[in-house]
Amino acid sequence: MKRNILIGGAWPYANSSLHLGHIAGLISGDFLARYYRLKGENVLYVSGSDCHGTPITERARKEKISPKEIAKKYDDEFNKMFKGYQFSYDLYSRTFDEYHKEKVKILFRKLYDNGYIYEKIEPQAYCEKCHKFLSDREIVLKCPECGEETKGDQCDNCLHVPTEEELKSGNCIECGSKIIEKDNKVLYLALSKFQKQIEEHTEKVKNEWRVNAQNETIKYLKQGLLDRAVTRDLEWGVDIPVEGYEDKKMYVWIDAVLGYLTDTMKLCENRTDCSWEDFWKEGHNNKIYMCHGKDNIMFHSIILNALLLGQEENYHLVDTIVSAEYLNFNDQKFSKSKGIGMTALEALEHYDSDSLRYHLLANGPEKKDTNFTIEEFENTHNSEIVNKFGNLVNRTLKFKGIEEIPNGVLDENIEVKIKETYEQAGDLIEKLEFREAIRKIMQLVEIGNKFYDEKEPWVSKKNDIEDFNNTIFTCSTIIANLSNLFDIVMPTATGKIRKYLKLDEPKWEFISVNPKTKLENIEPLFTRI
Ligand code: MF3
Ligand code: ZN
Repeated sequence: MKRNILIGGAWPYANSSLHLGHIAGLISGDFLARYYRLKGENVLYVSGSDCHGTPITERARKEKISPKEIAKKYDDEFNKMFKGYQFSYDLYSRTFDEYHKEKVKILFRKLYDNGYIYEKIEPQAYCEKCHKFLSDREIVLKCPECGEETKGDQCDNCLHVPTEEELKSGNCIECGSKIIEKDNKVLYLALSKFQKQIEEHTEKVKNEWRVNAQNETIKYLKQGLLDRAVTRDLEWGVDIPVEGYEDKKMYVWIDAVLGYLTDTMKLCENRTDCSWEDFWKEGHNNKIYMCHGKDNIMFHSIILNALLLGQEENYHLVDTIVSAEYLNFNDQKFSKSKGIGMTALEALEHYDSDSLRYHLLANGPEKKDTNFTIEEFENTHNSEIVNKFGNLVNRTLKFKGIEEIPNGVLDENIEVKIKETYEQAGDLIEKLEFREAIRKIMQLVEIGNKFYDEKEPWVSKKNDIEDFNNTIFTCSTIIANLSNLFDIVMPTATGKIRKYLKLDEPKWEFISVNPKTKLENIEPLFTRI
């Protein structure tokens, strides 16, 4: 029976360009989605642009345009970029879509009606001139540590985080007036009520997670979950579906993590073969993966699960957290403002998306922060992708003087190796060992090249045509299977192989090639840098 597998990719903030580090974190979602599709499972891979929240509002204020214009601009850019990297989302939406906002309001209201969201009156920073409550980032003050003028959330200069007390000396970022304290109404999500259920669930599933997710989640659970404010004094965001909160908006993380659910609902609305509940309710042979960077862990392992539990409707909780470490560029943090690294789109102007995908997956920041350098990337491209994979394909399918796949016999050892590769790489992928899985597949390429060298088809072509036919047939079979195995990493190249060998849709299973298949218009899969 098919499994229902939901894969959520983190929703990037639509307020600045993404760099290669973001792709390195997000690509694990695409990798898993492609793998499970090849296995024949019922997969939905969803994400979208995270369009609300203070950073976008701030950016809009600076550029003197509306938050929606900013969000639209980056949402367009992200769509173009993900397409360039061949991300296979079933739906990539955005949080300012009406559909999403309506569904989120219903889910929020349910939490409120079930008693998991409650009101609290508390003093907050207020600007009398602008008539509004201010978040920490909307307060400016002289940093008590270094003396620089800084925003209230954190000093850019010395990284000091001002205390509540220190913030009282601040001014409004917009008009400069001195701030005062004023009582405000705030809605809180009672995370503490879910402590036990989330603890039990975490205990049950955590061994499958990346280690950073285990540690981070356990840290929060040990401290004891704290209730969290879920309303914000902003004009841009999802409305609060509770009377008396008309002037406030929803905390951006609540809005965003529910996107996985609203995307699924939207996708399944027009489908007759499955419903959104198949992915999100208990008892549907389902599994939920969340793929993101390490700074996103508690939002997925704790907050999202709390929102699901609070519906009291038999929701299936997140099973597996695939949280990446950071990717650095020449040992420094990627930073657009400091000109360190390149954006994901810039990288595509210079390099193949297949090669970038391969490099970022094969050398990805799986268990520790990892460094990206252009030299290493070019080395991967030339010495692994071109010299090993490209070469095997080229010298087999473009062998001088042959026009079709010869009728030969498949080498028995090679057949075993191919079948093992599916099994072993598959196991590794399911254990989230993506780097090792790719190494396994590349080993099959090496086995193919070694076989080719030992068989010396350039000799047998002249004196042992049967041996020659067996060699080319066997190598073609390896290549056909690589078009399956590597489809989750380098989909452009594998698509070309399928066209050359006239193969059907890829699947995670041994396939044979048809002897007599015409070999026409075969181009090298890659060119050297
Ligand atoms: N926008 C967040 C970030 O870039 C990620 C949001 S993931 C979601 O860090 F699940 F909340 F959408
Ligand atoms: Zn002001």
